[in-house]
Amino acid sequence: MTKLIVTWSVQRFRRLAKELPNAEDSVLEIGCSTGGTTRCLAGRCARVVAVDLGAEVVKNLQAELAAKPNVTVARVDGRDAARLRSLLPDPDLIFLDIGGTALLGNIAVVLRECLQAFMPQALVVRNTELATVGGADRGGRAARGIEFPPD
Ligand SMILES: C[S@@+](CC[C@H](N)C(=O)[O-])C[C@H]1O[C@@H](n2cnc3c(N)ncnc32)[C@H](O)[C@@H]1O
Repeated sequence: MTKLIVTWSVQRFRRLAKELPNAEDSVLEIGCSTGGTTRCLAGRCARVVAVDLGAEVVKNLQAELAAKPNVTVARVDGRDAARLRSLLPDPDLIFLDIGGTALLGNIAVVLRECLQAFMPQALVVRNTELATVGGADRGGRAARGIEFPPD
């Protein structure tokens, strides 16, 4: 079973990137941007695949992390599950942040792709609308199997 963790907070998102992975884990990060979360993951996991749509941020992060053999940074759309699978067939964890203010509909598309293609132990999503609609801001817990830890 996949635990779905939703937060609006980038601090909590990055804290989870430090706390959740084990040294043997493979982790997929969708929406890596300039690498704030990727750096948290890079030293803690056996394997990290970080993707983003932005050509410039991907190029810069590839250059920065080139010396880390366990990290792959690639320009991939998070909706392209086939491509994600070709890079990392069986991630233990997925971190998804395509923008804290991204529309729920856009988040839902990437979430659906991930949940159809993979069965990670946990999928951590940063998105304000999803966190709010699920009641995270009201201390909502375990609704529909979704965990909302306090931010
Ligand atoms: C708020 S940033 C992520 C910040 C990152 N979590 C951190 O800790 O620094 C969101 C990123 O998602 C990327 N993005 C948006 N839609 C995407 C998609 N469909 N697939 C991959 N990346 C996407 C954007 O290009 C942007 O760089």
